Amino acid sequence: MASQPTFSFAKPAVPETGVAVLFVDGDNSFGPIGRQMLETSGGTLGRALTAAAFKGKAQSMLDVVAPAGLAADRVLVVGLGGLDAFDAAAALKLGGVLMGKVKEMKAAAVTVVLERPDGAAFEPALAAEIALGMRLRSYDWDKHKTKKKDDPAPAAAVTFAIEESGKAKKLWAGLSEVAAGVELARDLVNEAPNILGPVEFADAAKALEAQGLEVEILTDKDMKKLGMGALLGVAQGSERPARLAIMKWNGGKAKDKPLVFVGKGVVFDTGGISIKPASGMEDMKGDMGGAAAVIGLMRALGGRKAAVNAIGILGLVENMPDGAAQRPGDIVTSMSGQTIEIINTDAEGRLVLADALWYAQERFKPVFMIDLATLTGACMVALGTQHAGLFSNDDALSEKLASAGLASGEKVWRLPLGPEYDKMIDSRFADMKNTGGRYGGAITAAQFLKRFVNDTPWAHLDVAGTAMASADTEINRSWGSGFGVRLLDRLVRDHYEG
Ligand code: BES
Ligand code: MN
Ligand code: ZN
Repeated sequence: MASQPTFSFAKPAVPETGVAVLFVDGDNSFGPIGRQMLETSGGTLGRALTAAAFKGKAQSMLDVVAPAGLAADRVLVVGLGGLDAFDAAAALKLGGVLMGKVKEMKAAAVTVVLERPDGAAFEPALAAEIALGMRLRSYDWDKHKTKKKDDPAPAAAVTFAIEESGKAKKLWAGLSEVAAGVELARDLVNEAPNILGPVEFADAAKALEAQGLEVEILTDKDMKKLGMGALLGVAQGSERPARLAIMKWNGGKAKDKPLVFVGKGVVFDTGGISIKPASGMEDMKGDMGGAAAVIGLMRALGGRKAAVNAIGILGLVENMPDGAAQRPGDIVTSMSGQTIEIINTDAEGRLVLADALWYAQERFKPVFMIDLATLTGACMVALGTQHAGLFSNDDALSEKLASAGLASGEKVWRLPLGPEYDKMIDSRFADMKNTGGRYGGAITAAQFLKRFVNDTPWAHLDVAGTAMASADTEINRSWGSGFGVRLLDRLVRDHYEG
């Protein structure tokens, strides 16, 4: 990973060195320090704003180099747009855009003056979100590049000048752990599939013991004893054995039931015997994006010592075609006892989750289970890359997830479940089949999972479109997004701690 910025927090003062960042609203109004600098510059700043026809639109920026009368080397004026719309999600994105500019400027020292043009106090929570946006934007996956950039940007030392500096610092201490969780998830999604197999992924889970988590790894033999025929059927065509990782964070009261998060961790999905076309198949190294989000979330919860009991479970397999691979027509028996006819070996994620979900509810009797999975292309067709698909048997949990989505910017959109879809996955030869035909592919996949959750409150997030970034965003310039870490951290923070 490339050079990381460092953040410190101080009381508001006129910046004397480096780059001074000043915020203006949609009317180009500054806060008190900005007004003072406007005056000290003897008209230079004001003239620059007029000459550039700067309007303070959200995310717009004006870079004034060597401003006369000011000690700072550069003043970067940043538009907030209308202050009413400047919420946590907007602050995060603004931080991303700002970091993009800081890198482009190759700035080493940056002071961000956090004051609102309307005179109200700048919320420390928004300061922490700006820092998070800056940190996530500076993430760079260059591990396998042997030729370094010839003129790399330095690691910026960023100071936030804010009235409630102590509070902002404390909030950032928590969010920096969330950032580390997102970075871990991105690292895993971006890693090459020859390097990251099920065993290596389980090792990454085991490494969370350093964060105070308890980690158990089940081997393929352990899973065979438990009767996990659905998960193991997927793995049987690969040279690399399956693993199930169980990570526990015990930050709550001993008697409190845990929250459980389950991730699809298909380290590579060739499709198996129902093999995928060659074009774009390399993207299927990211078919463990759900598991990456779960491990990243557990890293975040442990790192910030969340007051909650949470368990992360990863179903880790590789889906390969081979003489030992499972066939269309095979019938496997899941841990639940239900039998599944394999129609398409490329519908493997639901088979992995079937056993992981059943195991999770039986062993842990959780408050809820949320699974994340890069499960269907159909979900990408329906929702694009802007929303993850949400399916649930629990309206209250769904609403909490939807609002956590809006607050974090990791948005979800609920799609239906219903008994009428069950017919599509009933099988002639077994209890069910693993595909439901052409229509409603994201729904029939979720309807399949529902058969393995019993009456546990449950939500399924189909992250096929969001786990791997198809386009650059304000806060991510690498491929893996880490989608789900911030969403679920927000869910836990807002509803399940203390
Ligand atoms: N991992 C894929 C889904 C996927 C596709 C994720 C593209 C991310 C990007 C999944 O295992 C799969 O192959 N699903 C099939 C299901 C079908 C065979 C019923 C699909 O969506 O085509
Ligand atoms: Mn598949
Ligand atoms: Zn898959």
